[in-house]
Amino acid sequence: MKFFNTILILICFCVFLFIFLFKSLIKFLCSKRQQLPLPPGSMGLPYMGETFQLYSQDPNVFFSSKQKRYGSIFKSHILGCPCVMISNPEAAKFVLTKAHLFKPTFPASKERMLGKQAIFFNQGDYHAKLRKLVLRTFMPEAIRNCIPNIESIAQECLRSWEGQEITTYLEMKTYTFNIALLSIFGKEEILYREDLKRCYYTLEKAYNSMPINLPGTLFHKAMKARKELAQILTQILSKRRQMKQDYKDLLGSFMEEKEGLTDEQIADNIIGVIFAARDTTASVLTWIVKYLGENPSVLEAVTEEQESILKSKEESGEDKALTWADTKKMPITSRVIQETLRVASILSFTFREAVEDVEYEGYLIPKGWKVLPLFRNIHHSPDNFKEPEKFDPSRFEVAPKPNTFMPFGNGTHACPGNELAKLEILVLLHHLTTKYRWSVVGAQNGTQYGPFALPQNGLPIRLFPKK
Ligand code: HEM
Repeated sequence: MKFFNTILILICFCVFLFIFLFKSLIKFLCSKRQQLPLPPGSMGLPYMGETFQLYSQDPNVFFSSKQKRYGSIFKSHILGCPCVMISNPEAAKFVLTKAHLFKPTFPASKERMLGKQAIFFNQGDYHAKLRKLVLRTFMPEAIRNCIPNIESIAQECLRSWEGQEITTYLEMKTYTFNIALLSIFGKEEILYREDLKRCYYTLEKAYNSMPINLPGTLFHKAMKARKELAQILTQILSKRRQMKQDYKDLLGSFMEEKEGLTDEQIADNIIGVIFAARDTTASVLTWIVKYLGENPSVLEAVTEEQESILKSKEESGEDKALTWADTKKMPITSRVIQETLRVASILSFTFREAVEDVEYEGYLIPKGWKVLPLFRNIHHSPDNFKEPEKFDPSRFEVAPKPNTFMPFGNGTHACPGNELAKLEILVLLHHLTTKYRWSVVGAQNGTQYGPFALPQNGLPIRLFPKK
């Protein structure tokens, strides 16, 4: 008995010793981490931080002056949050690909407007499921079948601009909105286009407004429009459930029974995809029109490439309609898209939040801090691109250095719609360059941010059919 007691005491002692040593080790490691320095930089005034400096000028001036002073990883304080900004390609890749260390983060008002179950706000299994459903609708094998419909939407838009003075960005938004609806609802989109447009256009007006939900405010109107959008979607869902057909569009993918998405989850993600797809692609198209206008030799090369596709179709007696194979014969036009994505860098940066204390290159990124990979600074660094301010599509004849070109992001949340975006741009450019010429109205040299970078005044142009 005495022997057993001694053994028991010994075991207890060992257990306590182990727990003590383990705790001390953890404490030691944590204190070492806390001793790590924060990245260099300044935090500005209490609470306000440097928000005013960032938003009162061209944001690129803010970022590049900081980078010059502190290097490619620096700290700041904006919109009430401490943050670390990153313009080093490897560090940006680290932040975007380590999903267990950095989660996506958005202002609460955006989450309320788009719906908190939308793909960009989520992580883990639910996010992986949504990504699978979105990717299978937007992968090349799926979107190649949409070319005839994309083409007729492009032709219809261009015809409606003929002989008119138009604001390029506004008209491109109509084009990209209609394509987004096509990818979501298939050919049925035309039935819902006007209602969805009315609600969505009210919703978007409040994207940059204060989240004050009182009658009369933009935010209140937006929340009402959001409710109406969700109701329209519920009607579409119930109609489809009665039809019991196999739909190949995004809504069909979300509705598959075995995926078990609720109607609310479907609505949040449909609104989310429209949000992700429309202004981004419209803004890139607007920049392309601007750069082509300013670079006549590039416009000539693109036009020749597009005309030669038409000519070879005529010679072989083929139908004039574009095919997937035709879109693979557009290397010059594709390089114009790449160079525009680089120079315009319409998404200057994105946001993540550290979910725990993270050590990176000897610096501490504290838990809860925002982390901003600065795409624009990476795309405009002379270390990554020679003469970065020059618009020169031929630079993409050689692949850029790894991680220096990420217009569609990187890692778990990288853009699943990038192939569709490129396809709809190619199709529109084919018809624009082969059938039309245009001139910019007034001197338009500035850039506006709201939130995507855009040519000043949305680029007013006049469009004429070629003789
Ligand atoms: C040229 C146009 C486009 C650009 C430059 C662009 C850029 C991006 C970028 C940079 C991200 C990642 C953001 C981050 O990591 O925080 C992203 C995400 C996303 N994009 Fe795009 N995008 C474009 C067009 C589209 C289109 C046409 C669609 C849909 C058809 C789309 C759907 C999405 C979705 C759903 C996400 C969220 C993915 C996730 O969280 O897993 N985008 N986009």
